[in-house]
Amino acid sequence: MSYFDVFAFQIYPYIAMAVFFVGSLVRYDHSMYTWRSGSSQILSNRGMRLGSNLFHVGILMVLGGHIVGLLTPHSVYTLFISQEHKQLLAMVVGGFFGFLCLIGMLILLWRHLFNPRIRATDNWRNVLLLVLLLAQLLLGLYSIVQSSHHLDGSVMTLLADWAQRIATFRGGAAELISGVHWVYKAHIILGLTLFLVTPFTRLVHIWSIPLEYLWRPYQVVRRRQPGLRYGPRS
Ligand code: HEM
Ligand code: HEM
Repeated sequence: MSYFDVFAFQIYPYIAMAVFFVGSLVRYDHSMYTWRSGSSQILSNRGMRLGSNLFHVGILMVLGGHIVGLLTPHSVYTLFISQEHKQLLAMVVGGFFGFLCLIGMLILLWRHLFNPRIRATDNWRNVLLLVLLLAQLLLGLYSIVQSSHHLDGSVMTLLADWAQRIATFRGGAAELISGVHWVYKAHIILGLTLFLVTPFTRLVHIWSIPLEYLWRPYQVVRRRQPGLRYGPRS
């Protein structure tokens, strides 16, 4: 195994995650008013709703699949589904939502590059972030082509074992995946790099998932009734 593999798949994950957690905390503490998703909807509505919705639905479903797929122990998921079927599920569901995400991402990128109102207020970090996400998505989609060459799920199991060893601070993670196709390796390195850059970009908004929305109190909406007086009484 090369030194590069040891660094990239055993040491770099912890550097990226440490910068992600500590960097986000420091940014929140020191410059809370820069904490935003940076919506450009107020500048132009064109393509915004479609682009942003396709992009977000796609990426949230893909990432949800990653968490369940990579971190569920082998002994637990085999109670419900075989290794081969899990591989197929990841390819089909991940491929479908990845494709939705791709369309949304291209619409968003098009807005950034060609909409004059957005270009005028944009900064290079916003565009770079979208380009990095696009590259990551294309690598992910290309990995489906590679996975179709080994439908027994053997490589998927190696990748999941790698993620579980890293998440539980165990050694021996890098050697598990040192022999896999370059596309998986590039996808993991770029994915970790996205964690690394998060505190320095608008991606910090992923911390601000409005979960309280799910159990907020009802809003009372009353219909305006003719003849009913509103405002202060005279
Ligand atoms: C439930 C979680 C999330 C919520 C509530 C959310 C919300 C938002 C909002 C309100 C915006 C501003 C644009 C708009 O109005 O649509 C935005 C933009 C953005 N979000 Fe999210 N987001 C979430 C998760 C994510 C994730 C997981 C990623 C990627 C890993 C992401 C990447 C982006 C990017 C790149 C933009 C900028 C889009 C552009 O360039 O116009 N978001 N998000
Ligand atoms: C640290 C972050 C990430 C890691 C470690 C990671 C890891 C992986 C791995 C190991 C696979 C192959 C799964 C298999 O064939 O069994 C995969 C597939 C894929 N990834 Fe990621 N990924 C990350 C982030 C992302 C992000 C941010 C995106 C979207 C922009 C993405 C999109 C995809 C897609 C579309 C696939 C193929 C379909 C699927 O298996 O879900 N990944 N990823």
